[in-house]
Amino acid sequence: DNMHLPNMNDAKIRNQSKVNYIYENRESNDLFKGKKYFIKTYGCQMNVHDSEEISALIESLGYIKTDVLEEADFIILNTCAIRENAHDKVFGFLGRCKHLKKEKKDIIIGLCGCMAQEESVVNEIREKHPYIDIVFGTHNMNDLPKMLTNYYGKQDIEVYSKEGDVIEFGNLYKRDSNISAWVNIMYGCDKFCTYCIVPYTRGKQRSRKSEDIIKEVNELKEAGYKEITLLGQNVNAYGKDLDDVSFARLLELVSDTGIPRIRFVTSHPWDFTDEMIDVIAERDNIMPYIHLPLQSGSSRILKLMGRRYSKDDYLTLYNKIRSKVKDVSITTDIIVGFPGETREDFEDTLKVVNECKYDGAFTFIFSPRENTPAASFEDNVSLKEKEDRLHELNELINKYSKESNLKMLNKSVKVLITGVSEKDDTKVCGYTENMKLVNVDAPKEDIGKIINVKITDAKSFSLDGIKES
Ligand code: 5AD
Ligand code: SF4
Repeated sequence: DNMHLPNMNDAKIRNQSKVNYIYENRESNDLFKGKKYFIKTYGCQMNVHDSEEISALIESLGYIKTDVLEEADFIILNTCAIRENAHDKVFGFLGRCKHLKKEKKDIIIGLCGCMAQEESVVNEIREKHPYIDIVFGTHNMNDLPKMLTNYYGKQDIEVYSKEGDVIEFGNLYKRDSNISAWVNIMYGCDKFCTYCIVPYTRGKQRSRKSEDIIKEVNELKEAGYKEITLLGQNVNAYGKDLDDVSFARLLELVSDTGIPRIRFVTSHPWDFTDEMIDVIAERDNIMPYIHLPLQSGSSRILKLMGRRYSKDDYLTLYNKIRSKVKDVSITTDIIVGFPGETREDFEDTLKVVNECKYDGAFTFIFSPRENTPAASFEDNVSLKEKEDRLHELNELINKYSKESNLKMLNKSVKVLITGVSEKDDTKVCGYTENMKLVNVDAPKEDIGKIINVKITDAKSFSLDGIKES
């Protein structure tokens, strides 16, 4: 069930479509014309993409984006609740904003995203952070233009505790890139892993209709995009809540559009079917890269996490993917220090890492989250022990990611060039089909193109290469 927030409207009927709101108000709002907004995004790709939608909504009022915090008339923080440290970062940044507001009184400060869906955070904002002007949740982003227009200097918190229906946003996003685009295929998650706050902050799983997804992909292709990434908390459960196609079939339909590169995140091992593996293996425009969260290598801990697979189930799936999909890269997520994790459980995780030799991994210390079952599990492992385990795990992960990068040495690969290299502005950079970052000796005109690159050096987290003719 969804949590209930005090004084908040339960998913009210939102018959007003966001898209209409933008069109109706595009000309009429002189109030904000030329004013500047600054948006800061925390957390996952879903949030990054939500920020593209929020930006479009703000710009519909006449605001212009700035990357300089001090210039902003409206500052919006799109927050993440997945771990406690995300929360700390947000409040740290808000301290700066509060300070700014002392000098520039009419700045409007907004907060949205997953933290806004947490009851304790909303209470904290009400009681201790009066300088935060506007708060809205993940289910009512479309209320932002209305909230800004009606804002009259009094803290306004509007968060729905329940998700509404999927509302189509059309192709109005203010996308950060004109090469690679995010495409939502579903919202929310029904898995309720015992440590995870996402089902509470993002609501139950709602898939978009496949025809809407395909339409969006076709429009992106027409607009010249080279790559799309299908987004969802649990993409391979796509369609299970609808009378629509499976994720494997959706992948085929997206592949049929002919867009050059297709990626997807995140997959849950439990929903990963053989059909999916076959489609990924067969289709050239579906990239051989899979993010497959393990979370723990101990079947005992996996059970406590509610992950629905054992260590052996995971390894069977993993090896099937490796053997069927040519040159596939596989990355993972691992949590250490789950309540009650023994040294033996942790060693099971190390064993799985030694067997899988991941291309990369995101590793985390368990963080108890409000209202999740695991937050009340008995936890007798010290923080010091958890930090030591994280460190030990990271050493192993880094060893294998370096090894997997070394395997790329001297190979000729295709790289989609997305921009200027961050390390060296005389170079460009981009990703290989299997999602390795490469800094390439090639002209800037190649930005937006897929070029052939010879790999000349392999580091832990990136590769170097030169353009081949
Ligand atoms: N504590 C630590 N890590 C978590 N994750 C999700 N919830 C928690 C938590 N409570 C990790 C999982 C997930 C990734 C996005 O974040 O590994 O796959
Ligand atoms: Fe959280 Fe589990 Fe859903 Fe992933 S699958 S979002 S870890 S509940």
